[in-house]
Amino acid sequence: MGATGAVGTCFLKILEERKFPYSSLKLLASERSQGKDLECCGKRYPVEVLTHDSFKGVDIVLASAGASRSLEFLPSAVKAGAVCVDNSSAFRMDKDVPLVVPEVNPEMIKKSKGIIANPNCSTIQLVVALWPIHKAAKIKRIIVTTFQSVSGAGQSKILELESQVKEFVAGKKPTVKEFPYQIAFNLIPQIDVFCDNKYTKEEMKMVNETRKIMGDSSIMVNATCIRVPVFYAHSESVSIETEKPISPDEARALLAKAPGIKVVDDPEKKVYPMPIDAEGKDDTLVGRIRKDESVKNGLSMWVVADNIRKGAALNAIQIAEELVK
Ligand SMILES: NC(=O)c1ccc[n+]([C@@H]2O[C@H](COP(=O)([O-])OP(=O)(O)OC[C@H]3O[C@@H](n4cnc5c(N)ncnc54)[C@H](OP(=O)(O)O)[C@@H]3O)[C@@H](O)[C@H]2O)c1
Repeated sequence: MGATGAVGTCFLKILEERKFPYSSLKLLASERSQGKDLECCGKRYPVEVLTHDSFKGVDIVLASAGASRSLEFLPSAVKAGAVCVDNSSAFRMDKDVPLVVPEVNPEMIKKSKGIIANPNCSTIQLVVALWPIHKAAKIKRIIVTTFQSVSGAGQSKILELESQVKEFVAGKKPTVKEFPYQIAFNLIPQIDVFCDNKYTKEEMKMVNETRKIMGDSSIMVNATCIRVPVFYAHSESVSIETEKPISPDEARALLAKAPGIKVVDDPEKKVYPMPIDAEGKDDTLVGRIRKDESVKNGLSMWVVADNIRKGAALNAIQIAEELVK
């Protein structure tokens, strides 16, 4: 579901790369995509229009067509006997729906009643990086500021940054259609709508989803989410306070052996993660690991990951691989 989108097309790449075992593949999108076809594993498949009858004979649904489509169509998929891995926010905080990052809480997959939610892209890379530290030293508080690429908002936003850059360098005023303001050569400190508490929905997703995935509702989280003129990969400045002391060296050693993480941390040699390094990669990159000298037990770090891969399509396919096992 959503096969033609930024996440959907990445699903096809990753199914091929990881040799995901399937005997047939159905690509679903809106009426706008009728007549298109897309390639996976060397074969072209027609894009079909999503309907309630699309799911007959389907074992696994990978959904990335937005929350309203998930709310409307996934119950039909479950009724038809499929297990759905949903990339949208529709069911994430539903108490009967597991919210899963395979490096953190794979055991929750078994509790699914037909729908498994994939977390928000910024939350996934945050919990991948923090889980090994939480297990060792118990995190009490997280302060995170995100620098989120335009691809996190879908295919149309990637094209908008590209066209605004072209207009800007040609000396023209960039045309604003998709974002609320010009994004080329600018930052926008708003992702999604504002809530009553003056945080945005994206920021509150990070608070609530982090607690649900890490299974600890006592963790305090303060998030600020910023859209930046980068095409792919989200970056995060993260500071944590832990119950037990943990040194930067201990944290580095724990992260170096944790699944899905690559430590990129040699600041003297100008070695630290950047979005251009994370683009197209599966690992969450962690660097700039240092003591937070403003609190008793504190660490700060810089976390970067490809939002379309680990933040969406890869995480969902890792869940699907567990289902197949
Ligand atoms: N981008 C990310 O980094 C990211 C990360 C995590 C989660 N997500 C979530 O994944 C979902 C998709 O995101 P995206 O970035 O891939 O968006 P996108 O590039 O805008 O793609 C949206 C997809 O949904 C389809 N769609 C839209 N309306 C539809 C309808 N009425 N019926 C059937 N299909 C419809 C589109 O089909 P057409 O091409 O036919 O319009 C397209 O395939 C969203 O829920 C998003 O929140 C995205």
